[in-house]
Amino acid sequence: MAEVNRQFLLAARPQGMVKESDFQYHEAPVPEPDDGQVLIRTRYISLDPSMRGQMENRADYVAPLEIGDVMRAGAVGEVVRSRHPGIAEGTLVTGALGMQDYALSDGRQPPLRRFPADVDPTQALGVLGNTGMTAYFGLLELGRPRFGDTMVVSGAAGATGSIAGQIARIHGCRVIGIAGSAEKCRWLTDELRFDAAIDYRSDDVGAALDTHCPDGIDIYFDNVGGDILDLCLERIATSARVVVCGGISRYNATGPLPGPKNYFNLVFRRARMEGFIVLDYAPRFDEATRQMRAWIEAGRLTQQATVVDGFAELPRALIRLFEGFNTGKLMVRND
Ligand SMILES: NC(=O)c1ccc[n+]([C@@H]2O[C@H](COP(=O)([O-])OP(=O)(O)OC[C@H]3O[C@@H](n4cnc5c(N)ncnc54)[C@H](OP(=O)(O)O)[C@@H]3O)[C@@H](O)[C@H]2O)c1
Repeated sequence: MAEVNRQFLLAARPQGMVKESDFQYHEAPVPEPDDGQVLIRTRYISLDPSMRGQMENRADYVAPLEIGDVMRAGAVGEVVRSRHPGIAEGTLVTGALGMQDYALSDGRQPPLRRFPADVDPTQALGVLGNTGMTAYFGLLELGRPRFGDTMVVSGAAGATGSIAGQIARIHGCRVIGIAGSAEKCRWLTDELRFDAAIDYRSDDVGAALDTHCPDGIDIYFDNVGGDILDLCLERIATSARVVVCGGISRYNATGPLPGPKNYFNLVFRRARMEGFIVLDYAPRFDEATRQMRAWIEAGRLTQQATVVDGFAELPRALIRLFEGFNTGKLMVRND
């Protein structure tokens, strides 16, 4: 067991794009679990776009972060000491364990999810973790896919988008992904079997949507907001569902942000646009995980992870998430 608990603390509220200087490296003693607690060694630490908003306390669905706090992050780890009667040493767990080597929990604070020993830890953090749950519940509960629907997903080669697109295909939708490079687009069509992919950095997105969605968009699963949301709203079909999962194009922006110009198409097309927070579905995570594992075992669902090596890389990895460095789920492997 390491002698210190390496941590990254929140050093500053970011202005514009998150910077390495917004974090401070710190070494603390390895904590001792009290009665009823477990000590967890983190193995993979997740990088999530929502961390940017949490650094500024813009996310009111989680507790505020203060300067000097351990930076909040999802992670998967192993229970290395247990004084909890129901959680054995060696158990694989996920939770908001933070950017640190060791975390304490009593199972409820922070809430832990337990996984069977045969689950790949990168899947516990990705396709079977909050990412996969976001895709699953966002698509099935809000997107309500029907056989033959045309679904467009942005951030399509990212963690959530790549899973949402695959689940839509399982439900018989035609899926068009929007992503930030030709290589990502090739991965979507060649590996994940999306019906088409649009490179928003080099293609004319509106013209490409017209080509691939001649009868309009039945489901738009939005991960990015901004101009791409507007282009999709312009093309929604009657009774479309616009799933507002995220809006990464705005997370590092400064100053007031414009709203969608084409929202009034919701009226003309009798459509629905709805947001959600995945944590609200936590009581149903086990049900979704069973279904996702069955799809994985049947070869119908696959996860790609971009794994960066080394604890020291955590701040840089978060910055690179916003630069589109990752394909699939981005995480740091703890050393
Ligand atoms: N509602 C919820 O409960 C919930 C839960 C989890 C996640 N989310 C949201 O889901 C979205 C995806 O999250 P994730 O964890 O799966 O991350 P991710 O998609 O794996 O990573 C972010 C990706 O976004 C793209 N991107 C970055 N800046 C962009 C911009 N300005 N415009 C368009 N694309 C940009 C990049 O890919 P490109 O190369 O394609 O640009 C990057 O790889 C985020 O908006 C996140 O906040 C919501």
